Amino acid sequence: MSTQHYENILVSNPEPSVTLITLNRPKALNALNSALFKELNVALETADNDRTIGAIVLTGSERAFAAGADIKEMKDKEFADVYQNNFLENWQALTKIRKPVIAAVGGYALGGGCELALMCDIILASPAAKFGQPEINLGIIPGGGGSQRLTRIVGKSRAMEMILTGRQITASEAEKYGMVSRVVGEGEGQVVKDAVVLAKEIASKSQIAVQAAKEVVNAAYELNLPEGLRFERRMFHGLFATKDQKEGMTAFAEKRKPNFTNA
Ligand code: CAA
Repeated sequence: MSTQHYENILVSNPEPSVTLITLNRPKALNALNSALFKELNVALETADNDRTIGAIVLTGSERAFAAGADIKEMKDKEFADVYQNNFLENWQALTKIRKPVIAAVGGYALGGGCELALMCDIILASPAAKFGQPEINLGIIPGGGGSQRLTRIVGKSRAMEMILTGRQITASEAEKYGMVSRVVGEGEGQVVKDAVVLAKEIASKSQIAVQAAKEVVNAAYELNLPEGLRFERRMFHGLFATKDQKEGMTAFAEKRKPNFTNA
């Protein structure tokens, strides 16, 4: 359990190998302000550096994963301020986390909330989840990666429609679009329960292999195909230097469960 005190998030360990981070500004539908992001980045880094933790779940409430960047905090900002201070740059910290981050989305994931979910490695959604990029209705555009990550995932036409109209899509549309890996069953808290089960399963694998797998899959969004394939092959070769590879393959041959030591 983290000893750090947070005002805008809750951090717990529903399983010894899983950190659950819950965005906790219910009155503002978890609008993402700078104080929340500072805390979120500390909590993510703490979990990433904790050798007992194998995966992280990020969630909000049943009503809102996050309703976007905090509009009230942003509304009086000037160009000189946001440009010179590179406003939102610290949002990228999530993409540098080495351990898998699973978004458990219940309710609204709008604007920056949708972008935050898209920065995670896996998204599970409750049937009532709603995704959207409504920035156009505020006279702005997505600023947390929405235009780039969303477009790569759902394609140009769907991304254009979402970003140009601000239309919210349902969980089942998001599943059809490939934004979420699955929509979980009905029931309060079900999406978090399923995400924790998934996180626990991932945490039971060799953490070196998990980290490498995350790195190579993410490289598919950054490298061209020959570079990506080469990178994958080299990482694959590299894993033959680990004890976990020896253990995994020996256990298979001996018809027993592997005992990974993350070495
Ligand atoms: N920023 C600040 N406060 C927000 C907020 C946001 N993004 N979203 C909701 N809130 C606040 C509301 O102001 C309201 O506060 P008060 O009770 O003090 O008035 C409270 O949360 C509850 O919201 P509503 O009364 O509006 O609840 P609702 O159920 O009627 O509507 C909603 C829900 C459709 C999500 C609506 O709140 C909404 O449209 N929110 C804004 C969504 C949005 O535009 N997000 C994009 C932000 S810009 C961005 O994210 C930029 C980027 O790319 C990084």
